[in-house]
Amino acid sequence: MLEKPSVNQQGHLEIGGVDAVWLSKTYGTPLYIYDVRKIREKAAAFQAAFADLPVRYQVAYASKAFSTIAMIQLVDELGLALDVVSGGELYTALRAGFPAERIHFHGNNKSLEELRYAVRENIGAIVVDNFYELELLKTVSREIGKPVNILLRLTPGVGADTHAYISTGQDDSKFGFYLSTGDARKAYRAALTDDRFHLVGLHFHIGSQLFTPDAHVLAVQRLYKELEQWKSEFGWLPNVLNVGGGFGIAYTDGDEPTEPRRFIRPIVEAVLAECRARSLEVPEIWIEPGRAIVGEAGTTLYTIGSRKTTSGQKTFIAVDGGMTDNLRPALYQSKYEAIIANRADQTARERVTIAGKCCESGDILIEDIDLPEARPGDILAVFCTGAYGYAMANNYNRLPRPAVVFVEDGEARLVVERETFEDLIRHDLPLRDPARSRS
Ligand code: LLP
Repeated sequence: MLEKPSVNQQGHLEIGGVDAVWLSKTYGTPLYIYDVRKIREKAAAFQAAFADLPVRYQVAYASKAFSTIAMIQLVDELGLALDVVSGGELYTALRAGFPAERIHFHGNNKSLEELRYAVRENIGAIVVDNFYELELLKTVSREIGKPVNILLRLTPGVGADTHAYISTGQDDSKFGFYLSTGDARKAYRAALTDDRFHLVGLHFHIGSQLFTPDAHVLAVQRLYKELEQWKSEFGWLPNVLNVGGGFGIAYTDGDEPTEPRRFIRPIVEAVLAECRARSLEVPEIWIEPGRAIVGEAGTTLYTIGSRKTTSGQKTFIAVDGGMTDNLRPALYQSKYEAIIANRADQTARERVTIAGKCCESGDILIEDIDLPEARPGDILAVFCTGAYGYAMANNYNRLPRPAVVFVEDGEARLVVERETFEDLIRHDLPLRDPARSRS
């Protein structure tokens, strides 16, 4: 279920105590709004999920979901660790002043430069994905003259009940060392027997937007079958088990995700049971939610423009953004809910399809939604756009990327400026002086 939107006396949508229509007038549209209180609540819920469980734990925010300087500073304030997946995300985190030792670095093809950068900055750990990366890290370790802290990303061979594009734990995934081929064991041996590595832990990530812990639990069980053998063969198991992210959220009224406490407990209990049954030491358990921290906190505001009805009686309402600020409907056929923010107290009168403004037939934000009669100039608010919205925004058709505003307790704060046309051509190099005519 989606949380009921809050509506003020003028019939306007309110976010974090701030009038959404005022926000659209002040900062322009399209506009990403984050309700900071919701981010705080989600972070606290994941931390509280571990509170009465007998394990040490770490909650890291997967910054790929939404990475900006202000967001990273908020994550620091909330006491979370941080997962980055590229040199750019790492740079953002470090520039935000995030403590390097609380960062770990993912990625299936990190470059030598990225690895050098991460290790030189003394980040907490590198999550190694493949043998090539192990080789690169040997070079880096030699250069800096000390061992590198690593986790190994393992692919447990567990499918996830989600869109194929965001499923990562299955045997044919591009991520990690496969348990099924014996690569995982080989990597484990390589990491253990080389003093250029300090093996901190093991990692898996099953997939994204999952509604139940079943796949995580299955992966834990699969993994421990293997770990029991590794323990007897190598005499040692690392201290940390990172079970990734993937905790689903409600995008629409029909979505029923599992709340953090009920998602985490079965996973931890599975680890405890496996360890008990095999007389193994219980590891520290790490998780790395991205979407679940920021998804529901985000709302995108658009201005409605053109409208047309097809011969088949389908009505398109077009907005001033689209697949450039929210790629998810085009990429994963994701569903969203929306309301007209300036008439949030009115009931639905018509069924429409919300189209983006990009030159692409697939640029449809919401297929078939019931709204009050939409007019040009109305403000459309699309909910739950906080994860992988701004993060996957792009400049197709040379649309500038929108601004981002944080709201809390009736206050608004601009945290990312809207791109300008000038920004769009910033890196373009001319063939000739545009002021000079060609003749
Ligand atoms: N850890 C690892 C290793 C991951 O690969 C991911 C997501 C996460 C954590 C965080 O997953 P989350 O808790 O946010 O589900 N662009 C897609 C999602 C791609 C997720 C990639 N990896 C989307 O918009 O749905």
